[in-house]
Amino acid sequence: MDLQRICALAGWEESRLLYLDETQSTNDIAKKIAREGAAHGTAVLASRQTAGRGRLGRSFLSPEGGIYLSLILRPQFTAEELLPLTALLAAAAADAVAEVAGIRPQTKWVNDLVLDHKKLAGILTEPAFSHNGSLDFVVCGIGLNCNTDPDSFAPEVQALATSLKAVTGKAQDTQALVASLLRHLPRVCLPEEKQTLMDAYRKHSATLGQPVKVLAETLYTGLAEEIDDSGALLVRDEGGNLRRIQTGEVSVRGLYGYV
Ligand code: BTN
Repeated sequence: MDLQRICALAGWEESRLLYLDETQSTNDIAKKIAREGAAHGTAVLASRQTAGRGRLGRSFLSPEGGIYLSLILRPQFTAEELLPLTALLAAAAADAVAEVAGIRPQTKWVNDLVLDHKKLAGILTEPAFSHNGSLDFVVCGIGLNCNTDPDSFAPEVQALATSLKAVTGKAQDTQALVASLLRHLPRVCLPEEKQTLMDAYRKHSATLGQPVKVLAETLYTGLAEEIDDSGALLVRDEGGNLRRIQTGEVSVRGLYGYV
């Protein structure tokens, strides 16, 4: 991995990019060094993870060819400002992919990037709070199937996941994509960028307007009607009630094999 090139392309200080060939989870390393005082804008990058983690306690398969990146941010966010963070990061990551690969992924609520009806990337945000309850730091982890060979996914994952290389038919410039992610992801901290990112998140949503199955406190089906500025999904259930979901799992008809 040519870290010098990544940092030159991103305008990033080399001391703020830590690279590991293989690690358990870049989010875990980032949390550890953040607790030890790592500065805002420190990133951890790996070529493989042996215990990559996803939302809702799931594992995230992390074979060679993917980008596994965790960014430490220390914004002075209130609890309300934290709510839309994952969606804003997804929109920023989609901008980075579009810039480098010339193809813009859609977003699947709340934290996935989607191409060809399959998962291209997932985002895991993990906040940590100070004793007084204020936000200390948040680790923003993204796993992006860049040049991943679909054969290296487990058989049950192959039907659900894809990579940029598989979709575009050519190997992508991994370092340019990491650099682009490093430039775009910190935009989530800029007040003037938030509305732009949230509007892009809605505009390129693969969830809005679709029939969905929601697994939150209960399981129900409905129509995804809206995503509000806090990133919550508003679903009209079969009984005509509008239900607001801030966290939980949503299957979208037509994606990942849900029919
Ligand atoms: C999801 O799909 O639910 C989120 C997946 C997030 C995976 C990334 S890979 C880099 C970072 N390290 C982890 O262990 N998880 C995140």
